[in-house]
Amino acid sequence: MPVHTIPDGWVLETAHTAYAFGLNPAGLLTHRYWGVRLPYPDDYPPAPAPMNWASFNNPSHLTPEEYPGTNDIKFVEPCLKVTFADGTRDTVLRFDSAEIDGENLRIHLRDAFYPLNVTLHYRVHAERDLIERYAVFVNTGDQPITIERAFSAQWHLPIGDHYRLSHLSGRWFDEFNIQREPLVQGVKVLESRRITTGHHHAPFFAVDRGHADEESGEVWFGTLVWSGNWKIAAEVTDFASTRINIGLNDWDFAWRLNPGESFTAPASLAGYVQNGFGAASRTLHDYVRERLPHGDALHKVLYNSWEATFFDVDVNSQTKFAEIAAGLGVELFVMDDGWFHGRDHDRAGLGDWWPDAKKFPNGLSPLVKRVNELGMDFGLWVEPEMVNPDSDLYRQHPDWVIHFANRERTEGRNQLILNLARADVQDYLIDHLDTILSENNIAFIKWDMNRNVSEPGWPSYEGEQREIWVRYVEGVYRVWGTLAARHPKVIWQSCSGGGGRADYGILRLADQIWISDNTGGTARLGIQEGFSQLFPANTMEAWVTDMEKHLSLTFRFHVSMCGSLGIGANLTHWNERERNEARRWIAVYKEIRPIIQQGDQYRLHSAQFGEGRTAVQYVSKDQRESVLFAFRTHVPDPAQPFTVRLRGLNPQARYTVEGFDGARSGLAWMNTDLLMPLLNFDSTLRRIRQVEG
Ligand code: DGJ
Repeated sequence: MPVHTIPDGWVLETAHTAYAFGLNPAGLLTHRYWGVRLPYPDDYPPAPAPMNWASFNNPSHLTPEEYPGTNDIKFVEPCLKVTFADGTRDTVLRFDSAEIDGENLRIHLRDAFYPLNVTLHYRVHAERDLIERYAVFVNTGDQPITIERAFSAQWHLPIGDHYRLSHLSGRWFDEFNIQREPLVQGVKVLESRRITTGHHHAPFFAVDRGHADEESGEVWFGTLVWSGNWKIAAEVTDFASTRINIGLNDWDFAWRLNPGESFTAPASLAGYVQNGFGAASRTLHDYVRERLPHGDALHKVLYNSWEATFFDVDVNSQTKFAEIAAGLGVELFVMDDGWFHGRDHDRAGLGDWWPDAKKFPNGLSPLVKRVNELGMDFGLWVEPEMVNPDSDLYRQHPDWVIHFANRERTEGRNQLILNLARADVQDYLIDHLDTILSENNIAFIKWDMNRNVSEPGWPSYEGEQREIWVRYVEGVYRVWGTLAARHPKVIWQSCSGGGGRADYGILRLADQIWISDNTGGTARLGIQEGFSQLFPANTMEAWVTDMEKHLSLTFRFHVSMCGSLGIGANLTHWNERERNEARRWIAVYKEIRPIIQQGDQYRLHSAQFGEGRTAVQYVSKDQRESVLFAFRTHVPDPAQPFTVRLRGLNPQARYTVEGFDGARSGLAWMNTDLLMPLLNFDSTLRRIRQVEG
């Protein structure tokens, strides 16, 4: 049983970890333990007795409360903040009851006086070594309650100090930089206020004791299953208690909870490992892969002409690209931006989701048919949440965008954001996109979003205006979810000018993420490594393009083969030699893609922290096959030899490694330094195979 009661509390057990909490002598719901799974129920420490330090804090300030409210003389980050109808802004949550139901535990709390129930939900993903938490708020009274903060969880680290926080930061064209910084007394805030997840930070944390590396050290890590404004507040209190708060961003947020209504905060997932950042990532990768809409399905090699043609698409040019792509072994042809009504540039067209009559006089069918005849699937780009002022849709419905009545509507890339909190906007998009999907044999959709929010108003809404942050995201989920349900075979990709919407919420609808508009090979090595902290290789679409053309085609292919391979170059410019080489790499990729897309990933040398040496290895789940990619982007002076030690092999089984003589045990290969004879901007791919006997 993954959930047990223990004296005065509960323990959630996964295959290797445990998380315990319970009631302390003062009746407060208190964190007790998070770490390796222990053999006996008595092993879990009791909830600490409250300590009284001085009149400046009450004992609850020093208590690691599981879900602290805003009450008492305490100043730790609270998980919730509400205002009751009479203006009271204080929440005293008391334990009411607990329910265990298989892998789920529900803790019911209620306010000591007011009609507010809060249920803390816990779900144990035992085999995946992860715990999921979220909170549900219910108004049982007869007057509205305003919720102003509703975090999903407060994750407590063992008492101690010298913790270090790792997170992912960046910007458009430069996403997923790994940051590691000490946590000291105070609050470190990571957040999005952009109505979407954002390029600038990913909702991810990993906390270690200051010296973990890829293979060793305790790491506590987690994320949020949400695609809108989010917040991580990592607090070290004045009594050395470290907590990671995670949930909806409370900045400009409010929700009116009417009598009888409930509000559900999104889920947070977290885990603990003893063997470093690599193990944390692999834990998350397995979880994601199992839950993707199409599970562990292998992704096809795609071609996308965006970087080749930009908006200049029409039936003839796309057919030409499709014919060349098919000859290389491409399996999925995706037409990007530019195909719909009036879309000759980025100043017009968004919102008018039907084929442009000049470019596609007979609709999309002739192109789709030709692509299918060539043996490929057909995919299409859309940006449903946006509208250009120069569009039929905006001319008809100028009130459909997010705006304030008396403010200029700030444009980004000449576009405004449709208010997807509105049901009529959602229905318009469902109708138009459903028509395109129903009338054409479309196997893949790239869903883009190319600006962040401004003037976050919804003038016609009579409810609490600040609900827009959540209702918008729920609207995106409804449109996307409805279309996905009606067209279950379609593979969806989440894109937001590259990696602006990469999160576990969107991966309930999408199978893939376009992680960056930066497709340059060397830059990409770092971006891919950052992305892999949280997401598996099969979700990472990676194109070979003409960017950073000083790199060899081999190097560029090797970089993209580390994910779900695609091509985004101008194929009409590739000569016969280049096409032959591409054909060869695509064929190799098809052989090894199950290892890459479904196997375990080991980051052997970091692109972000290394000395111009990057190495990534993938190992099949049965450990019979593996593939190693190594890249050199800089040779320091004095030159350092580039060696790797393989990982993830069965120590007793025997393997061959391409480029090295003989068969040796996995143990030998994992304890021998293998020299990679790479010059600057060189790369290599080595296949590793188990041999019999
Ligand atoms: C931004 C995306 O990241 C690109 O790949 C491309 O689809 C453009 N938008 C199209 O406008």
